[in-house]
Amino acid sequence: MSSRNKRPKGAAAAAVGKIKGLVLFLVFVSAVISILALTGSFYMLQIYDRALVSGSVPTLVVISALAIGLYLFQGMFDIIRSQVLVRVGARLDRRLAPLAHRVAIDMPRLGYSTSEALERGRDVDTIRGFFGSQGPAAIFDLPWVPLFLGFVYLLHPTLGALTLGGAIVLTLIAVLTELRTRKWSQATIGATVERNAIADSNARNAEVLKAMGFASRAVDRFNTANERHLELQTQTSDISGTFGAISRVLRMLLQSAVLGLAAYLTIQGELSAGAIIAATIASSRAMAPIDLAIGNWKQIVAARGAWARVTDTMEVLDRQPVPMKLPAPVRSLKIEGVTVAAPASGRVLLSDVTFEAVAGQAIGIIGPSGGGKSTLARAITGIWPVLRGSVRLDEAELSQWSDADRGMHVGYLPQEVALLDATVEENIARLDPTPNPNTIVEASRAAAVHEMIVRLPDGYRTHLGPMGASISGGQRQRLGLARALYGNPFVVVLDEPNANLDPEGEAALSAAIEGIKRRGGIAIVIAHRPSVLQCCDLIGVVQRGKLTAFGPREQIMNPRPVPNATVASAAAPIGAQPARRAKTSKRVNQASSSAIPGGPVS
Ligand SMILES: Nc1ncnc2c1ncn2[C@@H]1O[C@H](COP(=O)(O)OP(=O)(O)OP(=O)(O)O)[C@@H](O)[C@H]1O
Ligand SMILES: [Mg+2]
Repeated sequence: MSSRNKRPKGAAAAAVGKIKGLVLFLVFVSAVISILALTGSFYMLQIYDRALVSGSVPTLVVISALAIGLYLFQGMFDIIRSQVLVRVGARLDRRLAPLAHRVAIDMPRLGYSTSEALERGRDVDTIRGFFGSQGPAAIFDLPWVPLFLGFVYLLHPTLGALTLGGAIVLTLIAVLTELRTRKWSQATIGATVERNAIADSNARNAEVLKAMGFASRAVDRFNTANERHLELQTQTSDISGTFGAISRVLRMLLQSAVLGLAAYLTIQGELSAGAIIAATIASSRAMAPIDLAIGNWKQIVAARGAWARVTDTMEVLDRQPVPMKLPAPVRSLKIEGVTVAAPASGRVLLSDVTFEAVAGQAIGIIGPSGGGKSTLARAITGIWPVLRGSVRLDEAELSQWSDADRGMHVGYLPQEVALLDATVEENIARLDPTPNPNTIVEASRAAAVHEMIVRLPDGYRTHLGPMGASISGGQRQRLGLARALYGNPFVVVLDEPNANLDPEGEAALSAAIEGIKRRGGIAIVIAHRPSVLQCCDLIGVVQRGKLTAFGPREQIMNPRPVPNATVASAAAPIGAQPARRAKTSKRVNQASSSAIPGGPVS
């Protein structure tokens, strides 16, 4: 994800496009500030070469009043520039932050660590912070350096040459700083992400760390990462600090050199007394933006890196076209030759899975741990893109639905239920700002969780805390079920919905599945425990990344004994034939259910 020197595209470009006018305004304001910054020099020239020579007090007063006026103008433009810059930062933030957060939400799903994902949010902070710093002022002032050089040159060519030489040396120092710190700053960002990832994972495992007393080892692990982070940061700061100090000293040296040279030229009769001060002021003003740029180099580099990352990731988002709105699916869910690879590693986890479900059916998916059941659920819900094949709702491929629309038609209860740090109501209604209370209660009733909710301290308005930590595992699962059922989606995918349920909860779950079937929906139920499979019409067996059997429940769960079958063949893995030809209700699997590895189905 690095495309330095690329022009921002798509969303980021749109964000920049909107501030182009402001940037032009800033260029104009900076020009005025730079020109007004010559006031001091001109004032000195006028004092020494006019007021003092003529000995006229009124001239002195007029010149001084004029200078005060110009200084006030410069101050005013400076205030305007800093306020506009802060607002440009805020405006960019307002546009980029939601997009960056969108990216941050998507990244963990695609195999990136949460802390790397959250880094995008921090990148936006860095960009906004940059506009509030001295960095942009330095950049906007840099093009006006020649103006001051020219002014000094006009006073005396030798002074001009000296100042130009100083500017070149300072610029070389800036380039050197950049070259020396570039590698280190990138490594520092990597180390920050790594350190934050460890901190994040430790915090997530707080209970386990406490229970088994290995918190101190976790701290050690964090410490090692922190040490590396500190080391790199020290290196970067050392380099920029050293070059910063060198450039500051050089600038002071140059200022004195200009003064000395000007004095020499005056002694030689080549320069007026006023020109000594004027040249000193103008040459130091010429150096100021370069010095400022070197001093703020770290922020400039950080902002540039943040910008490159944010625009890069946004480009990925931009590639997704917004599809036309389709009518709600009502007939079928078709899985055709679906192959899924892990987004981060590209390893194929599920290959060539084909089956079909029609409205009113419940499909059970069984199979051993690590077989690929949850991967199948991720493909059906669009969490992971399919590498080959298609998932179709009423013949329309999943990609033809926008995320928001698909969410209305597909409910999902993940294997590990995590709830949002929000109220019960907001969790069930999927953060709908204007939910229909009846729909929420209907979903809760369907998940048999309504009574439990109303017994909570604040009922539906109870705050669940981070990750929904304030309720039990079983309660969380039932709330997750209510969220999946909210709004009666056409397809409801339940990944191990009964893992934490008591008999009452299991009965409620079975009733919920029956309810989905009755209203003409499709339930996909992944389960290890057999009770919930009773309401499934069809069963698929997923093992080693393949759909190895698919057919009516009776035939898969209680296969007829095969005449003359040897023990070995009866115990062969279910469905040795390729799953591609497996069609709804057509295949009768003949292997023994005891051969379903990891599946205690009976
Ligand atoms: N995010 C991921 N990135 C890469 N590989 C993954 C990821 N999640 C799962 N896998 C791998 O995919 C394979 C299938 O995993 P999956 O979660 O689909 O199994 P499962 O059948 O749901 O198992 P279980 O019954 O234990 O839930 C496993 O080998 C697992 O290591
Ligand atoms: Mg699973």
